[in-house]
Amino acid sequence: MSHKATCTAPSNIAFVKYWGARDLDRVVPENPSISMTLRSCVTRTTVEHSDEGGDDIVLWRPESVDDDAPLVLEEPPPSFAERVHRHLDHLRRRFGIEGRLRVATANSFPAAAGIASSASGFAALTLAVSAAVGERLDVATASTLARESGSGSASRSVVGGYVQWPAAWPSDDAVPVADEEQGGSGGGFAVQLAGADHWDLRDVIAVVETGAKETSSLDGHRRARTSPYFAERLLRLPRRLNTVRKAIETRDFSTLGPEIESEAIDLHCMAMTSTPPIYYWRPGTLEVLAAVRSLRADGVPAFSTLDAGANVHVICEPHHEEAVVARLDAIDCVRRVLRDGVGPGPAASGEHLF
Ligand code: DP6
Repeated sequence: MSHKATCTAPSNIAFVKYWGARDLDRVVPENPSISMTLRSCVTRTTVEHSDEGGDDIVLWRPESVDDDAPLVLEEPPPSFAERVHRHLDHLRRRFGIEGRLRVATANSFPAAAGIASSASGFAALTLAVSAAVGERLDVATASTLARESGSGSASRSVVGGYVQWPAAWPSDDAVPVADEEQGGSGGGFAVQLAGADHWDLRDVIAVVETGAKETSSLDGHRRARTSPYFAERLLRLPRRLNTVRKAIETRDFSTLGPEIESEAIDLHCMAMTSTPPIYYWRPGTLEVLAAVRSLRADGVPAFSTLDAGANVHVICEPHHEEAVVARLDAIDCVRRVLRDGVGPGPAASGEHLF
């Protein structure tokens, strides 16, 4: 007997970044983060659960290809396979799963393009395994389980629209509330601040680097506290979280834009001043950041943000998307421009990968 399920889960772009963990093993973040769930950059994952014996099998399609092209699944690199098997073991223990799991996963976007593929990947894996073994999850449980993959940002990818993780946090203090109030597992879960239809924001992604980054986010979290700016940032963060939440609530782009751009610069200042330092930026990153400033000087309100990588996400309102795309496309070291925007979150799908 076997049962197969497929789920898609989107990536997300953080407006307020998760950087540094109180407990990295349990993925308990130092601070709450806020993100926008994307629509087009998604991971599709199929899981088949069968009562036959044998080891779990994991395959992936590393690159996005034309939808009509035949699907070729390959063995993933060992570092990725190891993370997936670890999460499968975790879900196995959590749900008491016996038998074999076959997993296939494919991204709609280029691998290692600075788009959070672990966020979408571990969200999709969590949801597809749960569906294949007949577990119906509420959103908080799905978010907690996705977080327990080790990818904190995955906790936000099971929710659509504008999202905060952890859900609860005192607004006037950077200390988390008791674990029990957050679902009892330490790092809590994500909640929706507003749905995708609340505010149509676009994310134009300038890909300047397609290779894998030298330092993982995991190592970044480990080193975060060594930056002299880390403690200072935590003090300023409650104000920033309130400002970003309020700007989303009132659709106030002229407040949101500068705040998220400044937040991304703070993240990279911390990375560059940690021990040992982490330089995610490439020459193309600086060119895109300058292009975004020049767009603004020309009257186009667009603001940049970056996760732990070299590629730049340019956030704008729909009527400015074409101008942003045209300006980024004209930059020599931009290898490709991806268009995305806020999306409704994960979905079950009948289109299996095998
Ligand atoms: C800079 O530990 O969630 O993107 O597992 O690689 O996705 P991955 O990273 P994770 O850290 C994310 C760090 C960040 C900021 C953010 O998304 O909040």
